[in-house]
Amino acid sequence: MTDTTAVALVTGANKGIGYAVAAGLAARGMTVVLGCRDRDRGEQAAARLRAELSAARMGVGPSITSMPAEPDAAHLRAEPDAARLGTGPDVASLGTGPDASLGTRPGAVNLPTGPGVAYAAGVEPEVRVVVLDVTDPATIEAAAASLDRLDVLVNNAGISGPIDLTPSRTPATTIRDVFETNVIGVLMVTNAMLPLLRKAPAPRIVNVSSGVGSLHHHTDPAHYMSALPASAAYPPSKAALNALTVQYAKELREDGILVNAAAPGACATDFTKGLPFPITRTAEEGAGVIIQLATLGPDGPTGGFFDDGGPVPW
Ligand SMILES: NC(=O)c1ccc[n+]([C@@H]2O[C@H](COP(=O)([O-])OP(=O)(O)OC[C@H]3O[C@@H](n4cnc5c(N)ncnc54)[C@H](OP(=O)(O)O)[C@@H]3O)[C@@H](O)[C@H]2O)c1
Repeated sequence: MTDTTAVALVTGANKGIGYAVAAGLAARGMTVVLGCRDRDRGEQAAARLRAELSAARMGVGPSITSMPAEPDAAHLRAEPDAARLGTGPDVASLGTGPDASLGTRPGAVNLPTGPGVAYAAGVEPEVRVVVLDVTDPATIEAAAASLDRLDVLVNNAGISGPIDLTPSRTPATTIRDVFETNVIGVLMVTNAMLPLLRKAPAPRIVNVSSGVGSLHHHTDPAHYMSALPASAAYPPSKAALNALTVQYAKELREDGILVNAAAPGACATDFTKGLPFPITRTAEEGAGVIIQLATLGPDGPTGGFFDDGGPVPW
């Protein structure tokens, strides 16, 4: 690893959206560290990613070359635009069939953003694996100790819990488990990585949230999510993650660390397998907004919540 190569750690990167984010950042020349709780699954993912990067360099690899070549965060901005609120997609684990059509909100605005990390021209992206279970402090500390540089942290690892989590019937242990991964895990990983991030020239943190974490969506009668069954674990965990994002952004603003939450939209991954409606959006499409937030320029937003249509209402 050279001093000039930006380094990104993505938790839960052995598959799904996390893998797609890692691939997208590697395709932009970053060293990517796949945080995986199982070493074998991590090494398999790393081997696949190295092969895809190699194929992309030779012009034969579709999955990486199909990603946008440059970060384009022009539509992200610090303040929400009320006129565009309220129709963002995202569903994940709620068990019944919302309209899974995934159109994005119209409109683009000019935000003075661009690559926030220094990419080393001509450097072959390096792909590494660290064992990292976001609920296990020992693996988190060991992962942090194994790194000598960190520019970007993507807190992607997440679980939904069982489908039927009606509040009045949900055991507290289930809620604790989901919060342990989706909220406390993010806190523990972030705190362990902060000393490294603080030393980076343009540090960025992206917390992978969900549109179902939007209290607005659940309480706006015009939004399809207000008609979804009540669920006590996953949506509240992502709402808590959003709240945590805002608080980190407040604390870390003076350190120049931009902290944002991303809603990838409902994507066809293992996470959504078995839902009783078709999901056609790919993990790569869901990764787009995360990659943009991970590569914001110095004037990029912090403390925001974005999907690929722009700001999402809290
Ligand atoms: N897919 C969607 O429609 C959707 C929509 C909105 C938001 N999201 C969010 O996007 C993120 C990624 O979801 P996905 O769809 O890519 O799901 P996925 O395919 O199920 O992948 C989840 C990843 O998280 C890892 N993980 C779970 N618990 C972990 C732990 N304790 N420590 C470390 N890694 C852990 C998994 O590792 P293993 O392989 O070892 O289990 C896996 O790598 C999640 O935060 C999810 O809430 C997804």
